[in-house]
Amino acid sequence: MTGALLELEQVDAFYGSAHILHALSLSVRAGERVALVGRNGVGKTTVVNTILGIASLRAGTVRVGGRTLARPRTYQAAQHGVVVVPQGRRIVANLTVEENLLLGAATGRKGPWTVPAVYQLFPILRERAHTPGTALSGGQQQMLAVGRALMANPALILLDEPTEGLAPVIVDQLADIFNRVAQQGTALLLIEQNMSLVVRVAQRYYAMAKGTVIAHGPVLNSRQSLLDLEAHVTV
Ligand SMILES: Nc1ncnc2c1ncn2[C@@H]1O[C@H](COP(=O)(O)OP(=O)(O)O)[C@@H](O)[C@H]1O
Ligand SMILES: [Mg+2]
Repeated sequence: MTGALLELEQVDAFYGSAHILHALSLSVRAGERVALVGRNGVGKTTVVNTILGIASLRAGTVRVGGRTLARPRTYQAAQHGVVVVPQGRRIVANLTVEENLLLGAATGRKGPWTVPAVYQLFPILRERAHTPGTALSGGQQQMLAVGRALMANPALILLDEPTEGLAPVIVDQLADIFNRVAQQGTALLLIEQNMSLVVRVAQRYYAMAKGTVIAHGPVLNSRQSLLDLEAHVTV
């Protein structure tokens, strides 16, 4: 497929000798909102880690921003417009909110997202600008993680289980935020186990089991679509 921001084709990936991803293919085009769902341990984070070069790519193709990465490296994805909000958020403890944001700009591209622009999207971060990032609540840390990703001016953000451990009211706020980010033109790949969030944010989905994609299709705003998606994550 041409014009994809991210394209994995028949990817096999390993940690050492542990073979985790098997002939996995997926793609995300400009402006799309795509979900990647599946139970714990199926390899969702390994997809992210393969793009970042943390898991090793042994077969297949990874294309980021239209370029084939023969040996993906952590800094390359951001240079080509794909930025990760990692599972567990990884806010840097001894940096302030603002310093965490500036860190996001270091590896990325130039563009419309600046500290003031992020503060406009997340006014609470302006209020907390000079407090340590880890002093924020879980929901605020997730906003900071998204703000930090935006600072790299990505064409695509990969969100790895952004609502894990957060209260339902915070999940609702994040759904609005993800939709606002998408409306401003940034594509999203949302890795999630919360299917009501998937239904509210994603236009289509990939479902994984045992290190590969087992189903994909549109996400419809219907009860049936929600039940079909939930079947992919219910043990
Ligand atoms: N660093 C690692 N070394 C070896 N195996 C790993 C490593 N990280 C994850 N795994 C294994 O890879 C599989 C997929 O893990 P992961 O991609 O984290 O799944 P998910 O994100 O879908 O929960 C699991 O069996 C997990 O135990
Ligand atoms: Mg994971």
